[in-house]
Amino acid sequence: MSTIVMTGGTSGFGAIAAERLAAAGGVRLILGARRPAAAFESVPLDLTELGSVRAFAESVRGRLGGSPIDALLLNAGIILPDVTGRTADGFETTFAVNHLAHYLLARLLLPALADKAIVVLTTSGTHDPGTNAGLVPPRHADAGLLADPDRDPGRDSRPRRAGQHAYTASKLCAVLSARSLSARGLTVIAYDPGQVFGTGLAKDLPLPLRTAWSLLGASVLGWPLSRVNRHLNSRAAAGRTLGDLALGLATPPEGQVYAALRRGRLTWPAPSEQARSDELARVLWNDSAGLVGLPAR
Ligand SMILES: NC(=O)c1ccc[n+]([C@@H]2O[C@H](COP(=O)([O-])OP(=O)(O)OC[C@H]3O[C@@H](n4cnc5c(N)ncnc54)[C@H](OP(=O)(O)O)[C@@H]3O)[C@@H](O)[C@H]2O)c1
Repeated sequence: MSTIVMTGGTSGFGAIAAERLAAAGGVRLILGARRPAAAFESVPLDLTELGSVRAFAESVRGRLGGSPIDALLLNAGIILPDVTGRTADGFETTFAVNHLAHYLLARLLLPALADKAIVVLTTSGTHDPGTNAGLVPPRHADAGLLADPDRDPGRDSRPRRAGQHAYTASKLCAVLSARSLSARGLTVIAYDPGQVFGTGLAKDLPLPLRTAWSLLGASVLGWPLSRVNRHLNSRAAAGRTLGDLALGLATPPEGQVYAALRRGRLTWPAPSEQARSDELARVLWNDSAGLVGLPAR
């Protein structure tokens, strides 16, 4: 029996991955979720509260009673229309949910991971300016400025663009965190599912964007688009691949962490230049530790 702990398994392609894992046989899947999923073993987790992350980690460790975690999937994520929101801990909400809460969760569960555990962090091709994904690319991965964008001298005054930057920068943080974690001898993958319409990701965006997002998720419209856009993937393909990564059915080539799903096929391209910086990875790790009140090591 292997144990898999997952965030973001209640909606979108994460829900498909959760179903795949539960059906795999021999897997104990524990979901961290705001809304308990009746079909799965769920433990309350709200990533907008670091206290909830700590309680979740403690509860998981208690339930496991010393047996190790074989895979940790950090898939939950949000995109917001601006950067005005602050969590109870005082951090910008997109950065807090997508990066900081997952960083804390990974740190708290590290001692409970099996020696050859797999860690998957869901990132996005939008972390890379070269992808031309249509969202504002990340200017930096400075945890202090992302936690409090009012202090960022380069902040875009247009709310929607500032919101996009918070998202793409959080996804750059995911690749950098993956590289830091992989230096600890784990199998770590920063998973870019490509563009997956029809999920819940657009739910906080303005109505026209929300509507387009769900219409494009209908296979009848998505299919012709997928002929011209190699980044486009179905929810089924993105979820199935996430499940495969968690089960170790697809493994990274030596020295690589970034996996990108293109036309339904897993590829292992280099991530962005910023994502390849050892210095950015080191500083992000240490600054994130400071923000969550942990030592850097
Ligand atoms: N769709 C795309 O095109 C795309 C592209 C690149 C990367 N991604 C990334 O893929 C991941 C999954 O996205 P998706 O498109 O499948 O979106 P989704 O349907 O909105 O799924 C997001 C998941 O995150 C969970 N979540 C959000 N806020 C949370 C919080 N405060 N506490 C606990 N859980 C929370 C949601 O839980 P609830 O069910 O409670 O809302 C849901 O399970 C995200 O990290 C996203 O950034 C998506």
